[in-house]
Amino acid sequence: MNHRHTPLFQTLAHFHNSGPISFHVPGHKNGLLFPANAREFFDSILKLDMTELPGLDDLHAPTEAIAEAESMAADFFQADHTFFLVGGSTAGNLAMILATCSAGDKVIVQRNSHKSVMNGLELSGVRPVFIAPEYDHAVDRYTNPSLNTLRKALHQHLDAKAVVLTYPDYFGKTYAIKQMIDEVHTYDMPVLMDEAHGVHFSLGSPFPPSALNLGADVVVQSAHKMAPAMTMASFLHMKSELVSKERMARFLQMIQSSSPSYPLLASLDIARMFLATMEAEDVYNITHSASTVREILHAPDNWEILPTDDPLKITLHMKSGIAAKDIAYLFERRNIYPELVTHNQILFIHGLTPFANVYPLKNAVKSVGDQLKNLDNHATIEITKLITQDIQELALSYQEMNQSPYKQVSLHEGIGHIAAEAVIPYPPGIPVILKGEQITRPHIKIIENLIERGVNIQQKDLSIRVYT
Ligand SMILES: Cc1ncc(COP(=O)(O)O)c(C=O)c1O
Repeated sequence: MNHRHTPLFQTLAHFHNSGPISFHVPGHKNGLLFPANAREFFDSILKLDMTELPGLDDLHAPTEAIAEAESMAADFFQADHTFFLVGGSTAGNLAMILATCSAGDKVIVQRNSHKSVMNGLELSGVRPVFIAPEYDHAVDRYTNPSLNTLRKALHQHLDAKAVVLTYPDYFGKTYAIKQMIDEVHTYDMPVLMDEAHGVHFSLGSPFPPSALNLGADVVVQSAHKMAPAMTMASFLHMKSELVSKERMARFLQMIQSSSPSYPLLASLDIARMFLATMEAEDVYNITHSASTVREILHAPDNWEILPTDDPLKITLHMKSGIAAKDIAYLFERRNIYPELVTHNQILFIHGLTPFANVYPLKNAVKSVGDQLKNLDNHATIEITKLITQDIQELALSYQEMNQSPYKQVSLHEGIGHIAAEAVIPYPPGIPVILKGEQITRPHIKIIENLIERGVNIQQKDLSIRVYT
């Protein structure tokens, strides 16, 4: 296959160049009608913003350019089939759960999954069996569940219909997933993988392997996170005897727009071409540049740089007492914007291109270090006590939750009650309290500490909905 070819993008460009006259949606009429002050920014993208016209194919029943572009992606990523997504990995995570499980089915799920996975569980009305991640002291956060925890859950819940895992984590940390996938397959259950942060893993060494190449049945990747694709553009790859492609297509059709964005779809075609045509020298230059950035960000008096499996993820771990939010703010004031700030870590993502702004970054690191002595100290957060059970089911089923009345109480009054809403610091979007879980004192302590450190949580008014 010639991976320089971009069938969907080329079809759209060719269509635009043929000078079509629009008597159809969208209302900007191929870019003719657009407010002048915004035109400069939107002009070129509007040329591609078409609808399902003859020759432009249909995402929900593709036979032409979209089908060809999807099959080229499947070829590069080594999937049996690839679906293009315009609703982010969020849409993929919802679809993969809905397509494999029915209401009342048990599903084994990593406890620290993204909220889109949690929403998929609720939408499909399954009975989740949560498996706890280990607390990895080397990176000072919860990472992945151990093989033993997974084995125990499989053994206790032989009737589960699927296992949902996340690999890598937001910070590029991977784990020995092959053994886990093989173990799950001995029970004839599919492995559904949220690989939102790993689209570039198919480039091969020095990146870790993709779960798709290690036997996962369904793998969802946000192309927009690490590859040059537009925000929301994602892939759902399938390689499975256990999951039905037709069911997946049906749910994707329900979840995604009936007017999917062609610029987003074309950007997936381009992202695949970009990844597939990278040379070893390009990868070397990028990882070399990432090491340089890592060295620049090295400021051992103020923070350490955590180990990672993905060379493009650079995580600063604050010295105790320093709020990561305060440091991130100092960088932002110098026009340097990291990806993610937790209470004690800041994630910088290096792109798939050598970094050019070395001097501004060096100056910023120095200036942030100089200003650090003026910052307040904060109490440390006992986050290691957040998850106490290695295998956990919810106190109520989603069906029961739907029918139960709830009330709003203060966080402290909530202790001992069952949460009627999840508490999710964002980013990274991983719940501290699950909807349907009994609220404990450590939960509340952690939430208060997170709020104090400026972490973004919806429950800012210190109240929470609980079932009565
Ligand atoms: C682990 C994980 N899964 C899924 C998602 C959702 O991805 P998207 O933004 O492509 O919908 C995210 C978003 O940050 C994520 O971190």
